[in-house]
Amino acid sequence: MVNLGDIFPDFDAETTIGNFKFHDYIKDSWTILFSHPADYTPVCTTELSRVAELEPEFKKRHVKLCALSCDDVESHHGWIKDIEAYGAPHTITYPIISDKTRKLAVKLGMVDPDEKDVAGMPLTARAVFIIGPDKKLKLSILYPATTGRNFDEILRVIDSLQLTANHKVATPVDWKCGDKCMVVPSVKVEDEKHIFPKGVETINVPSGKCYLRKTPQPT
Ligand code: BEZ
Repeated sequence: MVNLGDIFPDFDAETTIGNFKFHDYIKDSWTILFSHPADYTPVCTTELSRVAELEPEFKKRHVKLCALSCDDVESHHGWIKDIEAYGAPHTITYPIISDKTRKLAVKLGMVDPDEKDVAGMPLTARAVFIIGPDKKLKLSILYPATTGRNFDEILRVIDSLQLTANHKVATPVDWKCGDKCMVVPSVKVEDEKHIFPKGVETINVPSGKCYLRKTPQPT
């Protein structure tokens, strides 16, 4: 189990683009590690295809991609041909890790208790780990195998993580890039003008407390 703020564990990865140590792959980039229950499964195929389609958007944000599935690398290579044939034209260039022994699934808390392969081995749930350039875990989400993820939401979350890493703002409900942001509670009222030259709007609430403060998205 990895907690937010922990250095993400390093491990030896056997992947479709060769073997590497995970920290060497991250180097100093934002990185997403996303897991899949198994090769040649329908929901996973749609997800990996969509991620490849969105790859330019991840590149724009300087985010590296890394998938993981429980089968071996040879199986991954065969499956990639199906993924590339599905949906919009695309090529899978990001690595897919093989976790045949489930060592990583156990280490990273990704085992889905309800899903087993034909040999009765547990499958991996759909985990998403977003790791910062400092190699610390910034976000984790865990879906069951039966629920496909929304990678537009993952892009939205990256926009929020990258923005809030550099500015004293948080992003409100349903925020998308370009929308107003909330001033974080630790900013003192007397410092607002200096920190947020674009202005701060304080929303009146019955409590009279000045904690609902909006500001245009900092650049
Ligand atoms: C799928 O990817 O379609 C899937 C995998 C394991 C369990 C259920 C669905």
